[in-house]
This record gives sequence, C-alpha cells and structure tokens, in this order.
Amino acid sequence: MNVKNPYRPILTSIEKVTFENDAKDLKTFRLVFSDSEDADNFHYRCGQFAELTVFGVGECPIGIASSPTDEGFLEFTVKRYPDGLVTDALHNCRVGDHIGVRGPLGNSFPLERMEGGNVIIVGGGFAFTTLRSTVRYILHDQNRSKFGNLTVIYGARSPGELLYKEELKAWQDRKDMETHITVDKGDENWEGLEGFVPTIVEQVAPKPDNAIALVCGPPIMLKFTIPVLLQLGFPPGDIVNSLEMRMKCGIGLCGRCNIGSKYVCRDGPVFTYEELQALPAEL
Ligand SMILES: Cc1cc2nc3c(=O)[nH]c(=O)nc-3n(C[C@H](O)[C@H](O)[C@H](O)COP(=O)(O)OP(=O)(O)OC[C@H]3O[C@@H](n4cnc5c(N)ncnc54)[C@H](O)[C@@H]3O)c2cc1C
Ligand code: FES
Repeated sequence: MNVKNPYRPILTSIEKVTFENDAKDLKTFRLVFSDSEDADNFHYRCGQFAELTVFGVGECPIGIASSPTDEGFLEFTVKRYPDGLVTDALHNCRVGDHIGVRGPLGNSFPLERMEGGNVIIVGGGFAFTTLRSTVRYILHDQNRSKFGNLTVIYGARSPGELLYKEELKAWQDRKDMETHITVDKGDENWEGLEGFVPTIVEQVAPKPDNAIALVCGPPIMLKFTIPVLLQLGFPPGDIVNSLEMRMKCGIGLCGRCNIGSKYVCRDGPVFTYEELQALPAEL
C-alpha cells in the first residue's frame, strides 16, 4: 500500500482478459504495473485483496487471484453484476486500458502456520479466487516441500461455471496433490463428481491431524461445510474463512465494514472459525 497516500491507486494496464464461464459474467484480468518501481514495491500475500479503480467510475474490493510467486503481473477474477457500477465498467474494459490498484489490503491466509502441515482447500463458486492464489503458491517449486499433503475440493453449479478450467485439469494430473472437482449438476460431457461441496467434503473426509482447512464460498456452502469439518474433528481454530463484506475505504478508517470491534477490511478478511464465533452475529 502507498504509505504516503493510502487512497492513491497504483496505475496498471490490462494485459490479458480471460472469459471464465459460460454465462460470460466472470472474467480474469491480468494487470501489469505501468511503473517498474510500483511493481517492485507491491508485495502481497495469499488471501489479500485490492481496491480496483475504473477511472471516472469508482473502485471496488477484489481478492488477488494470482500468487506472490507469479512475477510481473497481478490477476483478479471479477463477477459482473448487471446493476453493479464498477464490476460492469470493469467488464467493459479492454486490453491496454488503465486500471487503478489500491493495495495490497487486509490480512492473509496463515501460510507460516500452515507450513509443515497438511492443507485442505475447500471452495465454492467464484469465491475460489484467493484459494487459487494459495494453491499456486504452495505448488511453486520453491514452496511445495514446505507443505504436507494438499487436498483441493472445489465446486460450482455446473461444468461451465468452474473457474480456471485448464489449471484444474493440470492439478488433477499432478501426483503431489489430490483434486476433487464437483458440480451441482453435470451435463452430457461431464465425467467428474456431482454433488454439493459439503457432501464431497464428507466423502473425502480429510483428516484433521496437523492440518488446516481454508474454506471460501457462498454463505450457504459455508453453513453446511463448517459443521462437516467440525464433525471430522477440525478444531474451530484450524478452519479458516475469508469474508466478503461491503467495504469502502479498505483501510480501517470509514467504519463501513465493522463487525463488533473488528474491521473486516483491516483485521480480516481472513478469520478462523474460532474468531468468527467470538464476533457478534451480524453476518
Ligand atoms: C475482501 C473482498 C474480496 C472480494 N473479492 C471478489 C472477487 O475476487 N471477485 C468478485 O467478483 N467480487 C469480489 N468481491 C465482491 C465485490 O467487491 C463486489 O461484487 C463489488 O464491490 C460490487 O461492486 P459494484 O460497484 O459493481 O456493485 P454495486 O454498484 O456496489 O452493487 C451492485 C450489486 O451488488 C451488490 N453488492 C455489492 N457489493 C457486494 C458484496 N460485497 N457482497 C454482496 N453483494 C454486494 C449490491 O447490493 C448490488 O445489488 C469481494 C469483496 C470483498 C469485500
Ligand atoms: S471499509 Fe472502511 S473501515 Fe473497512
């Protein structure tokens, strides 16, 4: 973050745009910094987010989908809301257009705590973005040996709604991780798992010993997945979630995102389930 002026967006330009889904309302934007000094100074961790600015329109918080091990670019996967001011404007942007990036913001997944242990990644829908960042980070040659078994369970409504399809295939081919991809309902070409994420977590039954589970998804998925993990023996402090609250400043100043005494933008967005249980029931 620019410490002199935390409201000043860093200038980037769009290098690549990838359509992620059949509904064409999810795009991944690859951004490159316009100034090499900004690129050198932008150090982020898996789980952090940034405020993306469409100049003349506004800004909105988006999780960083690339990994700190990806050099020279940042990636963000953005869902376009038909009535969404910034996400709609972002989706109308083309390669070469300038985008502002204010960040990195928020805390991150507890990677140091996860080192030496097994990692279970559970994701649903388009909330998979910062989990993808984490998987890329763990799989990097410099990092893979620091972590134990890596299990990914990821689900979407239909095959066409799965993000990062090529990358998922590559993960499924790897021998040093387990990848379980599921859809609520398959089509005639779908040969993978069918069923909701909590059911697949129950079937895969990851072991809680020396393990941390990172869980991101829509509220309904969290509601049914967390009890499964608790039932499997994961302590609340080893279940880690990321929250997506409405936000404004992103730096703990405006009071827009607080739950009790915690600001989701500054103290989060990553919280253990144990921490969430201690917060007032405002979610
Ligand atoms: C930490 C964090 C990480 C996020 N990461 C991603 C990401 O990786 N990809 C992504 O596509 N989105 C992500 N979001 C959600 C994203 O910020 C909102 O979709 C965006 O702010 C909408 O902006 P807008 O100007 O297009 O919509 P607005 O004009 O502000 O609103 C359009 C519609 O979206 C609803 N809306 C707006 N913000 C939210 C929200 N946070 N939760 C629920 N409904 C909302 C409004 O009620 C309205 O119906 C993240 C949010 C947070 C806080
Ligand atoms: S968004 Fe302003 S305090 Fe969190």
